[in-house]
Amino acid sequence: MTDSAASQHRQSQPFLSLHKPTPIDGSFAGKHIVTVDQFSKADLRALFDVVFRFREGVRAGDRSLIELCATHVMASLFYEASTRTDMSFQAAMRRLGGRVIAASNGVQFSSVYKGEDLADSIRAAACYADVIVLRHPEVGSSYQAAWYLDQLGEQLGHRTLVISGGDGVGEHPTQALLDMFTIVDLKGGTSGKMITMVGDLKHGRTVHSLAKLIGRLEPKDCTLALVSPDMLQMPDYIVEYLRQRNIALVQTDTLADVLPDSDVVYWTRVQEERFDNRADYEAIRDAFVMTPDVLASAKPDMILMHPLPRKNEMGDAAQRDALDRDPRAAYFKQMENGMFVRMAILAAVLGTVKP
Ligand code: ASP
Ligand code: CP
Repeated sequence: MTDSAASQHRQSQPFLSLHKPTPIDGSFAGKHIVTVDQFSKADLRALFDVVFRFREGVRAGDRSLIELCATHVMASLFYEASTRTDMSFQAAMRRLGGRVIAASNGVQFSSVYKGEDLADSIRAAACYADVIVLRHPEVGSSYQAAWYLDQLGEQLGHRTLVISGGDGVGEHPTQALLDMFTIVDLKGGTSGKMITMVGDLKHGRTVHSLAKLIGRLEPKDCTLALVSPDMLQMPDYIVEYLRQRNIALVQTDTLADVLPDSDVVYWTRVQEERFDNRADYEAIRDAFVMTPDVLASAKPDMILMHPLPRKNEMGDAAQRDALDRDPRAAYFKQMENGMFVRMAILAAVLGTVKP
């Protein structure tokens, strides 16, 4: 590991070397969740069994679920905007009987406003909660948090866990878990499939995590197609990660090359907030727009995914409406699955369920 893209990436992101993520390796209890690198195929299978159980349980009104985390508290610490990740984690914790805390008026009106740094805010949350869900704009922020939590744990005699809810343009591990669960749920998995990711693959942390997770599973006969304008290509360190795991890759800027053969199409938003230069964003924002006309050339049994939120990359209101009613649109099911997956993750790391 000297000059590979992956090690160059780690060296350029100092926080990534602070904490060494612990592989799950069959045991979730007590583990921070900061990257998909922690998961093996067996871990995923075991976790998804719990997700299926929890989903059935919630739908059937199973009251035993609310015993699972009845003595636990989760802190929600979001330094970046969120609808789904924040709400689904909160809902997940509550459906397991746990409590949720957050700064009353959002993190911007916590002591962050007075200049408190991430380390001290993390330490504060750790004094009051058993698990912290953290979203922060800096790559490696959840690794940083894990490191501070382990240090503090020694002093306090109990360790609070962190789960990443997205670290800048780095990763969004629990999103990848819910994306993969949705692919397993609706398409039976990734083996033998063509999975196509479209749009801002450079800044999109969801596609970074999902691509790596696909690499980790080393599915048989799976092709991963990466469709983006030149400016928004998947980072080299992830392409290398995939090549090392022998994933068949297609990289193109022409959707028509791959759309008719795709089984899963993962559409993404151009990440406006990550651009330094507004003109670059304006030039690229409409590079790929999914509309009913575009979807017409896709397979009848494919699924269209999107982590959401969406802006103009799914056309105007009428086009969106038509897409939403297409049976291939999977993004609302994907969004709902997020809560069940996060229930399983919370109960598993808190040790109240054994996947
Ligand atoms: N919600 C996802 C994220 O936070 C995707 C997006 O914002 O476009 O990464
Ligand atoms: N998919 C996702 O992370 O959505 P939010 O940004 O709304 O949390």
